[in-house]
Amino acid sequence: LKIVVCVSGGGTNLQAILDAVDEGKVTNTQVIAVISNNAGAGALDRARARKIPGIVMSPKKYADREAYNQAFTGRMQELAPDLVVLAGFLVRIPPQMVSAFSGRIVNIHPSLIPSFCGVGYYGLKVHEKVLERGVKITGATVHFVNEGMDEGPIISQKAVPVEENDTPEILQRRVMEQAEWILLPKAIDDIANGRLRLEDGRVYSASYF
Ligand code: GRF
Repeated sequence: LKIVVCVSGGGTNLQAILDAVDEGKVTNTQVIAVISNNAGAGALDRARARKIPGIVMSPKKYADREAYNQAFTGRMQELAPDLVVLAGFLVRIPPQMVSAFSGRIVNIHPSLIPSFCGVGYYGLKVHEKVLERGVKITGATVHFVNEGMDEGPIISQKAVPVEENDTPEILQRRVMEQAEWILLPKAIDDIANGRLRLEDGRVYSASYF
């Protein structure tokens, strides 16, 4: 499975994928490129360390969003991955890319969708809202990307406890370590090895021997 990983920040989810591939926990998979909207993203350093091409495409460099959307979609079609993985990617996926790669884009979100997701719910903000609301359980979700925001068919979820003295940073770290870095490599391995079936907007793990 050829995958392109889209990133905006430190790239700890990318790192989890790269390590899982190297350790043989994710098989039949090759990360062929990493794309970031942010030239300073630490994720690009992680790609460089593994000699994986890093590409920067920032919406700011384009006349308007439509020009960026065309360029981004065109670049992805040139790369022609089997799967696009959004790992802490903070830019909206162009509608034309969602349809061109329908059923072949996955995203990791640091909450139990449909809670704490949608516009404004990204990064640390998600965990701030979780703490504000006082929920006792949070977690992460891997889902297919459709034209909505965090609304595509859910592939997997993993719960994480909220502790009494959690700060947003402590909670974010726990969600990453105990959920994100486990769920995303597993989902990629399942897709790479034909273990998932997407039918009528629902995801089933096809029986496999
Ligand atoms: C983190 O908030 C993570 O929860 C979310 O994206 C942000 C950056 O992740 N998935 P990463 O370290 O760049 O993978």
